[in-house]
Amino acid sequence: MNSAEQSIPVITIDGPSGAGKGSVAQSLARQLGFHLLDSGAIYRAAAVHALNCQADIEDQNAVLATFETFRPRFEPGNSDIGVQVWLDEKNITNDLRNEETASVASKIASLQAVRQALLGSQRDFQRPPGLIADGRDMGTVVFPDAKLKIFLTASAEERARRRSKQLKEKGITTTMQRLTQEIQERDTRDMTRSHAPMVAADDAITIDSSTLSIEQVVSKILGEFE
Ligand code: C5P
Repeated sequence: MNSAEQSIPVITIDGPSGAGKGSVAQSLARQLGFHLLDSGAIYRAAAVHALNCQADIEDQNAVLATFETFRPRFEPGNSDIGVQVWLDEKNITNDLRNEETASVASKIASLQAVRQALLGSQRDFQRPPGLIADGRDMGTVVFPDAKLKIFLTASAEERARRRSKQLKEKGITTTMQRLTQEIQERDTRDMTRSHAPMVAADDAITIDSSTLSIEQVVSKILGEFE
């Protein structure tokens, strides 16, 4: 990273799914006028592409081979719609959010070569006037020199409840038991993988959002940033 990039402020927001990272990151980006990196969407888009290519997800070389034709395009969101993701001229934004994509994303994300291949495209998001980076390893691996690092968490029950509400709004029904189990499996995989596991950076501030609204979390983070 050159010194010009180093002077562009980055706020990293890492933590498990359902902790509220996406909404918090979007609100912060809007209020500060910063760019937004939803790194999970990059892993999810890579998963959709690997599935489209019918690659064997357990086979690292087969997954990596699909990267030769992986050309995702991200369009910044606005106050009405979030970031839009395109793959081969097809808008795949909705496909990114289903549980199969999430599960495959988490599997391929455990492969070191996959993480390495996606590093550059994530760092490219660091542009003036600043960046909000949402993920699992933003503060530990992708932006170790970030100005402010947040680790946002919440209880597993609360995260399952939020996810169930989101899915219901989209007309998708699932049981709480299944959802909690899927969330726990994904968390365990993300926390125990040997490459870039989901952990708080040593210099991160941990915020538990179980009993906080998005606005309360955002104002805490803005207070730390100023
Ligand atoms: O954040 P989201 O749920 O969209 O991420 C999907 C999956 O991508 C996660 O379960 C995780 O395995 C992986 N991921 C990652 N590192 C990131 C962002 C996401 O490993 N920085």
